[in-house]
Amino acid sequence: MDYDCALNGKDLVCTITPDRDLARPLFCFSGMAPFTAIAGGQRVYGLGSYTEIALPDLRVGAPHQVVLNYVAGHNPANRAWMPIGPLLRCNREVIPLPRKTALGCRAQPIPDLGPFDGLPLVPQPTSWEPSGQSVAVAGFAGSDPALAAVAALAARQRLRFDGDYHVAFEDADLPEDAYALHITPEGATVRASSYGGRFYAGVTLLSLLQDGPLPCGVLHDQPRFGWRGQHLDTARHFYQPATICDLLDLMALLKLNRFHWHFADDEAFRLEIECLPELWQKTAFCGEGQLLPALFSDAGATGGSYSKDTARMIIAHAKALNIEVLPEIETPAHAIAITHVYPDTRDPADNGAEVSVQGYQGNALNPAQPKTWKVIDAIAQEVGDLFPFNHLHLGCDELPEGTWMGSPMARDLMTREGLETTQDLQGWTMARIAAKVAQNGQRPCAWEEAAQGSNGGIGHGTILFSWTGQGAGVAAARAGYDVVMIPAQHAYFDMAHTDDPDDWGASWAAFVSLTDTIAWQPVPEPDIDDRVIGVQGAFWSEFTTKDAQIWPMLMPRMLGLASKAWQDRDLEPDDLIRLARGHFLVPFVPASIR
Ligand code: ACM
Repeated sequence: MDYDCALNGKDLVCTITPDRDLARPLFCFSGMAPFTAIAGGQRVYGLGSYTEIALPDLRVGAPHQVVLNYVAGHNPANRAWMPIGPLLRCNREVIPLPRKTALGCRAQPIPDLGPFDGLPLVPQPTSWEPSGQSVAVAGFAGSDPALAAVAALAARQRLRFDGDYHVAFEDADLPEDAYALHITPEGATVRASSYGGRFYAGVTLLSLLQDGPLPCGVLHDQPRFGWRGQHLDTARHFYQPATICDLLDLMALLKLNRFHWHFADDEAFRLEIECLPELWQKTAFCGEGQLLPALFSDAGATGGSYSKDTARMIIAHAKALNIEVLPEIETPAHAIAITHVYPDTRDPADNGAEVSVQGYQGNALNPAQPKTWKVIDAIAQEVGDLFPFNHLHLGCDELPEGTWMGSPMARDLMTREGLETTQDLQGWTMARIAAKVAQNGQRPCAWEEAAQGSNGGIGHGTILFSWTGQGAGVAAARAGYDVVMIPAQHAYFDMAHTDDPDDWGASWAAFVSLTDTIAWQPVPEPDIDDRVIGVQGAFWSEFTTKDAQIWPMLMPRMLGLASKAWQDRDLEPDDLIRLARGHFLVPFVPASIR
């Protein structure tokens, strides 16, 4: 079976040359957004971006062309936009169509702008006074548990660390995660008040060691933000737990300290919830014979679910790296997986035609349905109990315009509660969930949309994540919310680096180059300084089919994120390039797959 796909302007031209006669096969696949067929076949079914196109009879050896377009004006920017998991279904037989086009991002070339004038560290330290000496060391020895955690990280990632150069630790009255590091020819002294400060001093020593002899001097270091995050979408693609641990290792080496774990979305709910076994068991795998079709997945059922024991292992791995894990349960939209398992989370009489940006019709839980609250409360309780960070991200992004307006049950609820719009009901719903979460002892978190609604939005001390840009974050901060800035134009690492059709990645927000990652101000207006508690990067997984595809997307761009999150003073774009070119983590390939 021969198959190829080519980009031609807005068109995706798929050519299928069968190795036998096939009677009226269905051409099935998913992709970055919903498709239409404009020639060569007729679209007969879709769920989100999953599409089935009825083809005419195909003759052995005779090429057949199908021309596809994305709906809603999307321009296919590169190879990542080609159909994912293409297959033919013919008389119940499933025939995978192997893609010829290479999958995944290629490592980005970094220009040679000469050496960086300073320590080879990302993020850069707050201050550095060199003594002029240096000391050649094989590695470090010291008895602090934080140093042992750095040594374990180095061993996992096969980085040089162990040796006999002595590192002493002293208590000092310094802020959380801050440290002072005195490097002399005889040994080093770390002063810190917290595990984080001692751990980051160890990370700094590790990083300097990878570059050659240790420079001697006095280094003071302190993060700008308490929240230095990275998100991973493990709903659209199931990542092996070992891959998540590799990402945590990479985050720690960049002094990031919050892992935002997005394990629930339209396509799957990938976490064990003991009192809702059907939820994760029925959505763990998609594809032939499963509840949901092959969404963002190759032919054959692929996927997986994280057990509570696996989650505990990941949380413990993160904790040793000074990282807290923020779980996201994603409500009320992005919930096709939940609504397929529990149809009574929707109003059967809802005649609304609203469709999500991803092409799902009716992907929101209905807050007027008692079952919705049973499911949400159970999830919030169990997930909240499992994750010791005591923060729970509730989702609330991209509720389709007009949701619930066609539901008589929701309309009755709105009348009773004096609500007028979809956003009002969303605000009411989020506030109700947040109240329960706060009662359980957790701090709610949510995407920026949760601030909408006539009730003032979600409230309850929620941290809001500003993702469409920074405007919503500024408004939320002025309305009294704490805000994490995660603007897609600068911090979404699933965006392609460039507009080259041979590049890889999404493009709906922007093409995000290395220097774009620092070309923004986390606090764009001085009056919200107290309210911006941090910055974060994101990686969404719609077009990722193999774990290893994420590394050249994340790196080198996570260097920019790390410098934004830690440094008070911005790096110059050319200095970021100079640091990236020589940096021991570029390109990052985890030891587990090297
Ligand atoms: C988002 O990117 N929908 C938060």
